[in-house]
Amino acid sequence: MKIAITGTPGTGKTTATKKLPKKYSVTHLNELVKNKQLYTEKDKKRDSYIIDLQKIEQTIPEKGVFESHFSHQLDVDRIIILRCHPTQLRKRLKQKNFNEQKINENVMAETVDVILLEAMQTQKPINEIDTTNLNPKQVAEKIQETIEKQPEENTGKIDWINELNEENDIQL
Ligand SMILES: Nc1ncnc2c1ncn2[C@@H]1O[C@H](COP(=O)(O)OP(=O)(O)OP(=O)(O)O)[C@@H](O)[C@H]1O
Ligand SMILES: [Mg+2]
Repeated sequence: MKIAITGTPGTGKTTATKKLPKKYSVTHLNELVKNKQLYTEKDKKRDSYIIDLQKIEQTIPEKGVFESHFSHQLDVDRIIILRCHPTQLRKRLKQKNFNEQKINENVMAETVDVILLEAMQTQKPINEIDTTNLNPKQVAEKIQETIEKQPEENTGKIDWINELNEENDIQL
């Protein structure tokens, strides 16, 4: 079984999955892509890589947990999406020293459910975990629980636009 842990950059995928017990054999795909040069190009302007999905598929183990903001694009059996309230996400991205433009792009992507919509197109089972008020250990526990119990899909419960609107952070 292959399980994708995905989510907008900054939602805490790497931090949380580093706290999973060894038996889940986590592959940190961003590291793998860099170390094994599984990309077609380096986008210097955006400080990112154009990944080579085919090469990645050929390189990764046959089972385990695969974490990255693109892991839902792989041939996985299940998808777990980490979510984070946009205001909290902005703080986490600042901690990562992302530049203002990258922070804004990612906060916007999280607000409008970009990864969820991409994941839904795969037709694979999806579970979302709201990490906003959880520490990394608690997120790891939720991931573990989701893997073990295989609960029903819970997509669509998170609605950041509505929450921001209620907090008067945006006007619709
Ligand atoms: N549950 C959490 N609560 C508060 N801060 C967190 C939490 N998880 C991670 N962080 C912090 O948020 C930042 C982003 O975390 P992390 O790098 O794990 O995100 P990521 O989803 O792996 O991002 P990327 O897709 O860019 O690799 C880090 O500074 C980390 O210390
Ligand atoms: Mg990461």
